[in-house]
Amino acid sequence: MSNYHIKHLEEYFQVYRKSVRNPESYWEEIAEEHFLWHKRWDNVLSYDFDKPEFKWFEGAQLNITENCIDRHLRTRGDKTAILFEPNDPKEKAQHITYNELHKRVAQMANVLKAKGIKKGDRVCIYLPMIPELAISLLACARIGAIHSVVFAGFSSKALATRINDSSCKMVITSDGSYRGSKTIDLKGIVDEGLKSCESIESVLVVKRINSDIHMEEGRDHWLQPLLDEAEETCAPEIMNAEDPLFILYTSGSTGTPKGMVHTTAGYMVYTAFTFKNVFQYREDDIYWCTADIGWITGHSYIVYGPLANGATTVMFEGVPSYPDHARFWEIVEKHKVTQFYTAPTAIRALGKENLDFVEKHDLSSLKVLGTVGEPINEEAWHWYDENIGKRNCPIVDTWWQTETGGIMISPIPYSTPAIPTFATLPLPGIQPALMDEEGKEIKGNQVDGRLCIKFPWPSMARTIWGNHQRYKDTYFSAFKNMYFTGDGALRDSVGYYRITGRVDDVVIVSGHNLGTAPIEDAINEHPAVAESAIVGYPHEVKGNALYGYVILKETGETRNQDNLRKEINQMISDRIGPIAKLNKIQFTSGLPKTRSGKIMRRILRKIASNDTSNLGDTSTLLNPEIVQEIMDNVIK
Ligand code: PRX
Repeated sequence: MSNYHIKHLEEYFQVYRKSVRNPESYWEEIAEEHFLWHKRWDNVLSYDFDKPEFKWFEGAQLNITENCIDRHLRTRGDKTAILFEPNDPKEKAQHITYNELHKRVAQMANVLKAKGIKKGDRVCIYLPMIPELAISLLACARIGAIHSVVFAGFSSKALATRINDSSCKMVITSDGSYRGSKTIDLKGIVDEGLKSCESIESVLVVKRINSDIHMEEGRDHWLQPLLDEAEETCAPEIMNAEDPLFILYTSGSTGTPKGMVHTTAGYMVYTAFTFKNVFQYREDDIYWCTADIGWITGHSYIVYGPLANGATTVMFEGVPSYPDHARFWEIVEKHKVTQFYTAPTAIRALGKENLDFVEKHDLSSLKVLGTVGEPINEEAWHWYDENIGKRNCPIVDTWWQTETGGIMISPIPYSTPAIPTFATLPLPGIQPALMDEEGKEIKGNQVDGRLCIKFPWPSMARTIWGNHQRYKDTYFSAFKNMYFTGDGALRDSVGYYRITGRVDDVVIVSGHNLGTAPIEDAINEHPAVAESAIVGYPHEVKGNALYGYVILKETGETRNQDNLRKEINQMISDRIGPIAKLNKIQFTSGLPKTRSGKIMRRILRKIASNDTSNLGDTSTLLNPEIVQEIMDNVIK
């Protein structure tokens, strides 16, 4: 298996050195041995950091779904590809084999074609975590349509913004979704959003909760009858290596969400390679990533990475707290899960519950544990290690981003000795650099700086949909010939990396990437609000939570502050989604500003974090007196 599967530390160092000495031949060897191509590439890599432009496996032709499905049929046709565990434990789990997945993807692809979807068209997918979600992604990829999945917790406005940004022609949704003991009216949210979307020609609706919904004549179609009529095979569209595979939106520190564009060949090679190595995946394993497919983690490590390896991947519809806090552990026992990949926020939340929830379940099937999305604190790491892994499962703290497409810095189980809170070492082919504020690389160990990547890797996002200039400005302008991650990191005495957090105005709340500017824009639309500033502060379970400082207009009206807080959070829910709600809202008469009028967020962050010992020099502010007022009224 050449260098596809790394098994010990010495091998890691050997492979890493080789991958850095000659990245092209390193990736070429992997691409050659492990995938199905219709035509070989002419060139492994060409790049230009100034344009910026990156091309991997140029000239090659392939279809990613043949790699994820068809080529497994001969040897793994009856093996479970997707193991669906419903929200309600009383509902039966579904084992979808590779044969069945092949058929269902083909039927779905034929329905898309019948509704006029062609190669290059954008299809918005707004579905809960049900099999049709994974099938929809694959069906788009089968015919060369570009999927744009929008997390089904986003509001109608957020959905409409994303649909309009990439002019999607179709939405695939469901009547509703289950979330613990609640149901959510997804179709109602879609209907509301589509009032401001002109590009949508059709809506396909999966029946999930059997609710009574409005169906717009001529536009909306129940999916099942169309699938029943559809042919069970569908020839794959032959794609070029650099054809877009999907768009996935992520928050920026300012402005509208960024539609990160991922392309076909490089993304496939890198997600498959990292899945196999980071999770030390073996043929009979049952792998479970608890993320939602609405985020990059689900795209790369529920759908594409596992299926490209012929793995069994668990898809869970529900939440960790329903019907009780044992739900995750019950599923691990029930399906004999071998690799379990989740977010620190879930670990912290479950770690607060009674240990009986864990101990009544047999977790002995577990071999590798993973975390992603935010820094994991030591306490949570040890709880995970002791109570879930029973000190017998390596923990992989995987650092990466929507933009990177795949895991970048992570231990390799049984190879890299783990240290709590450290993502440890770069994966093969990944060349991190720490930069100082003047733009110079900080060499050596025991240093910290801004985390950049100084050589292209196959799964990097290639552009921002419709806005290449923003792609250049955001990622390639801060440091010359480097990709800038937006994160700070330190490198310890042995060269291990620890991610210290964002260095921009993005806050990671419960593992979700939230830009503060769009939330401020939403609040400022409230008729009573004059101005606002949002910052993150440390939170025991969420990692970070949001703190809002709000200046009210002088309307003369005395309003109940608690009601106003509720209204403000409702506005955020409506415009962005419940994940962006503020934990604390402080009304204030002013915000600390520099003489040029810029809000001093550093001060606001410190006050919200109860860390006022060193606020720095506030005398140069336009309004230094406001700092004391804010400190006096801080919400603890
Ligand atoms: O700040 C880093 C944090 O999450 C950001 C990327 O968020 P998103 O694009 O939503 O992707 C999340 C899932 C890949 C990063 O810039 N982050 C992600 N993983 C870690 C992390 N911070 C610390 N440790 C991690 N393991």
